[in-house]
Amino acid sequence: MISLTNLSFRYRGGRRDALAGINLEIPDGDFLGIIGPSGAGKSTLTYVLNGVVPHHYGGDFYGRALVNGLDTVDAGTEKIAGELGSVFQDIDGQMVASVVEDEILFGMENFRVPPGEIEGRLKAALNMAGIEDLRYRALSTLSGGQKQKVAIAAITALRPRIIVLDEATGELDPASSRQVFEFLRDLNRQFGITIIVVEQKIMLLCEFATHLALMDRGSLILHGTVTEVLQGPEVLEEGGINIPRVTSLGKALRERGFYTGILPYDLDQARTMMENLEKPVSGV
Ligand SMILES: Nc1ncnc2c1ncn2[C@@H]1O[C@H](COP(=O)(O)OP(=O)(O)OP(=O)(O)O)[C@@H](O)[C@H]1O
Ligand SMILES: [Mg+2]
Repeated sequence: MISLTNLSFRYRGGRRDALAGINLEIPDGDFLGIIGPSGAGKSTLTYVLNGVVPHHYGGDFYGRALVNGLDTVDAGTEKIAGELGSVFQDIDGQMVASVVEDEILFGMENFRVPPGEIEGRLKAALNMAGIEDLRYRALSTLSGGQKQKVAIAAITALRPRIIVLDEATGELDPASSRQVFEFLRDLNRQFGITIIVVEQKIMLLCEFATHLALMDRGSLILHGTVTEVLQGPEVLEEGGINIPRVTSLGKALRERGFYTGILPYDLDQARTMMENLEKPVSGV
């Protein structure tokens, strides 16, 4: 479990707090999507979780961040990495090897995975990510989506209890983005791994995440189940989020007095909404 208490952070030389008084609990097995406009503090929050803040990026750090009981300020990044694996926004900057299998092996050797387990874990990671055929390929020849899968495979081979991804699908086409999310959902469901993703594509989050957190200017504005967070569409729009079209439709129907129920975010829910209108809609 992750627990952030009154957490504030200002980068050295920064003009304002990148994080301002965040209180957030993320239970084990959660699939949390973090949304918010540019500069909201989403990446900084992931840096707090993996210890990059304050161990790599210094500044004024207040409050407490616990990751599976480890205080991130005391523990240091290596110890935290045993609990929490992360894929950064800058994927190329994260790669250390030149061949796919070496990228996955490097992490395991670094984390002193027993030699007898290494080949099994390597194969399982390649299989889970659906990239067995890329095992001997040079990383420089891979597409953005393939690199993303390699980075996730390298993290899963270490078997952390928590995986954090920062805009992992930013450069991917819709089909590859879905594949990454399907893979994450398998990890979440089959192994109970907690998944935390910073993601712009709200529709993917609505489909795959269980909880959403909206950040803006360093603060946590909304946090709850996907349904709960989408009940505040005005707040989401103010935060620069493109809400799902069916949610907009629900909002419009609600404003005009046709609907008083829960706002939908997928087609099934939209159908239920249309069957439960207060009065027939004419002229639409
Ligand atoms: N290394 C740094 N040094 C100083 N200030 C930084 C640094 N990184 C980020 N900031 C500042 O901290 C604030 C939060 O930035 P952060 O990168 O966490 O936002 P974000 O929500 O991830 O944005 P984006 O959607 O653009 O990735 C911004 O005001 C940013 O300018
Ligand atoms: Mg960011």
